[in-house]
Amino acid sequence: MSLPRIELALLPTPLVRATRLERALDAGPIFIKRDDLTGFGIAGNKARALEFLIGAAVDEGADTFVAAGSPSSNFCAAAAMAARVVGMDCELLFPGAPLSAPAPNVELARAAGAHLLFGAVETRDQLDDAVLEHASLLRARGRRPYAVPRGGATATGGLGYALAARELAEQCQAADVSARTVVLATGSGGTQAGLVAGTVGFGQRWRVVGASVSRPAQPMAERVLRLARACAASMGLDEPCGDQVDVRDCRGPGFGLTSDEDRVSSHLALAHEGLLLDDYYGAKAMSLFRAMLTAGAETPAVFWHTGGVAAALAVLMGGSS
Ligand SMILES: Cc1ncc(COP(=O)(O)O)c(C=O)c1O
Repeated sequence: MSLPRIELALLPTPLVRATRLERALDAGPIFIKRDDLTGFGIAGNKARALEFLIGAAVDEGADTFVAAGSPSSNFCAAAAMAARVVGMDCELLFPGAPLSAPAPNVELARAAGAHLLFGAVETRDQLDDAVLEHASLLRARGRRPYAVPRGGATATGGLGYALAARELAEQCQAADVSARTVVLATGSGGTQAGLVAGTVGFGQRWRVVGASVSRPAQPMAERVLRLARACAASMGLDEPCGDQVDVRDCRGPGFGLTSDEDRVSSHLALAHEGLLLDDYYGAKAMSLFRAMLTAGAETPAVFWHTGGVAAALAVLMGGSS
């Protein structure tokens, strides 16, 4: 199988035993998959997706990468940097008016040379259509856009995490660990879709559980399944079925808003393991991980740290993320 790819991430990312967290939670064995350390800017999980999205864009002869997200979007900032390293333009759509205070990911995207477009739509859920409209506009002007939905959630974007499932399998085998439960944050669904595709396709037996941070569980599970099947098909792997997609509703008070449990989760991760978790994704996923362990989830369990450094720091500094 040879799919277009450009190297961005430093792989494999570490798989580390979290013994202090085990003691704090009175559970274990617990491992952390450190995709906050993918090593391309502060892209976290999005570095793996962008290896294949930018690879496909280059392969198609595109000259402009078009993406969209909220101002807190890690994907948008990472896309801007990834486009830049292959000499491609990047146009990013954000909802609403330009921000009155700087947000780290918007500033990163700007610093990487992306063209930022505010105000095309009012809300996040209108962005995917707006990206397609913007791509048509660019095409009419003679440009060659490669447009992706929010989070880069396509079958191609999932390829990186299908391979990450194999990476985890190899690390578990080397460490003689038989992982049973894998928990991660799910936003647009592309990361979980890739992981499910790779888990099933490469014959792994752990259960992947997504903490849905912004959408109800049922539609999210349907979306993850659709993406996972398309991702598996493009790799020639066996396609997953519905009962292999496990999504839990972890929205709590809302996207980017923390519950008391989420604050405890961030504190535990930082105090015991030196892990920085953000309010949008990591803290909610850790709350689910803790709740699952308390309820007797099978171990060894892996918490997949997906990054979110910019938002985590912004919150600590009391600014906008
Ligand atoms: C830090 C972090 N974790 C998890 C996710 C969720 O990934 P996905 O959108 O592929 O579901 C994102 C998405 O932007 C993210 O930035």
